[in-house]
Amino acid sequence: MSRMRLDKLLSMNGISRSQAIVIVRSGAVTVNGEPILNSATLIETEGADIRLNGTKLRTDEHLHVMIHKPAGYLTATEDKKTPVVADLLPELFRKRGAGPVGRLDKDVTGLVFMTTDGQLAHRLISPKWEQDKLYRAEVEGRADERAVKRFEEGIPLKDFTCRPAKMTVIEQGEEKSVCEVIVQEGKYHQVKRMFQAVGHPVLKLSRLMIAGIYLDESLAPGQWRELTEEEVSHLYKAAGMKE
Ligand code: URA
Repeated sequence: MSRMRLDKLLSMNGISRSQAIVIVRSGAVTVNGEPILNSATLIETEGADIRLNGTKLRTDEHLHVMIHKPAGYLTATEDKKTPVVADLLPELFRKRGAGPVGRLDKDVTGLVFMTTDGQLAHRLISPKWEQDKLYRAEVEGRADERAVKRFEEGIPLKDFTCRPAKMTVIEQGEEKSVCEVIVQEGKYHQVKRMFQAVGHPVLKLSRLMIAGIYLDESLAPGQWRELTEEEVSHLYKAAGMKE
């Protein structure tokens, strides 16, 4: 059973308590076709058809989306000067407190999750939970087997030694190469620093996957979509959590 006060349910749909009182009193909200006139009414939400002026309301406790982050955006919910990924989402997501899962540098593109579930976000970024993150990097020079081996051995950086990482050369050229790498940590500028350390500075970097969920190829930079039920279940499982 999942029971909830009607005003709480309306607040999950971006409607304030004071607005809710007026709206509900007007008879605009129906539950299974019946108008409910008191915003303090407890509603059984499971399987219920709850509508405001005929439009179905959301009853999901959490919101989860994937964004194709464009270059030039900060992975944040607000900033005074620079655009942030939260600007790409409708108002409701901000109102519900959706935050980014980890960070990408301003110039880095690709997959960012935003969720209202802080514990899920934490477990998807904490190295303890060892979630794979796949990056594609365009790098300077001819990346070869020696670089692959260095990644495999664990690259020592100034402040820490990276865990062994699987790096694959996708396109090899004299001037530049395209590589993919899976890392589980997420230290500051980590992937850029790893390639720099093996003599291949990064020209472009993009994240393609987190914890087995890939960036939807149909999303252009700046576009987003909600995660499917299957994707959400997969992430909770990967994070060792119950939905
Ligand atoms: N590694 C980086 O260097 N930058 C990112 O944004 C993510 C991983």
